[in-house]
Amino acid sequence: MRSLVIVGAGGFARETVAAVRAVNDLRPSWRLLGFLDDDPGLHGTERVGLPVLGGTDRLAELGDPAIVVCVGNPRDHTVRRRVVHRLALPAERYATIVHPGAHLGTACSVGPGTVLLAGVVLTADVTVGGHVAVMPHAVLTHDAVVSDHVTIASGARLGGGTVLRPGAYLGAGALIREGVTVGEGSLVGMGAVVLRDVPPGEVWAGNPARRLRGVEPPTPPAGAGRRTMPEAVGS
Ligand SMILES: CC(C)(COP(=O)(O)OP(=O)(O)OC[C@H]1O[C@@H](n2cnc3c(N)ncnc32)[C@H](O)[C@@H]1OP(=O)(O)O)[C@@H](O)C(=O)NCCC(=O)NCCS
Repeated sequence: MRSLVIVGAGGFARETVAAVRAVNDLRPSWRLLGFLDDDPGLHGTERVGLPVLGGTDRLAELGDPAIVVCVGNPRDHTVRRRVVHRLALPAERYATIVHPGAHLGTACSVGPGTVLLAGVVLTADVTVGGHVAVMPHAVLTHDAVVSDHVTIASGARLGGGTVLRPGAYLGAGALIREGVTVGEGSLVGMGAVVLRDVPPGEVWAGNPARRLRGVEPPTPPAGAGRRTMPEAVGS
């Protein structure tokens, strides 16, 4: 059993705890120590039966646990990339969490720090990078390439050979036509039907999907002025 710390204590972090517990039910693999979150208001509280141990500045005190960074939301979809860069840990420190109810077909690979939740399907020859979050029942079909720090919300579907560039975000239920590329840091809205390439740094939505606007800089969470490192607040 290896010790594991979850960075962030929001919704995705708690979903990841559920996936870790499902893995442990089949084969004890992880000793969950708790969460690290830079919202001081959470320190000393409990989430899903685990303590919020403090901020990310406490990581070094905890020894050498495995880490998974579970922050990010549609209002600030690049936050996970920023936190991972700031932590600057080697790849071997990161856990890869695959819910036992996910299905990985032949020749699929999943990188360090990546989380696949229940019901995710990777069909064949799918490549998923590091620190990627894939929510329940997303389907990634043959030859799809998902770069580091991407988020795929629940029920999104990737056609064959689609490419998601680093830090892209797919909203819930989005459909991406085969062979299409979603550019670096771009966001596709929930339910979008994407028929052509999305350039980097843009928000697209609708059926057929069209440009809505450019990606805006993240809005600090309420009370962020009190926080030492607001980008590591779970969401
Ligand atoms: C695309 C998105 C980021 C736009 O958010 P926003 O910039 O706050 O946009 P607004 O809500 O102000 O809407 C702007 C316009 O876009 C339209 N719009 C917003 N989201 C849309 C969507 N997903 N599909 C189609 N149209 C959409 C609105 O109707 C509005 O149109 P109008 O100007 O004609 O009234 C957001 O709606 C979205 O889809 N986020 C992803 C949510 C998600 O998947 N969550 C799952 C994980 S928790």
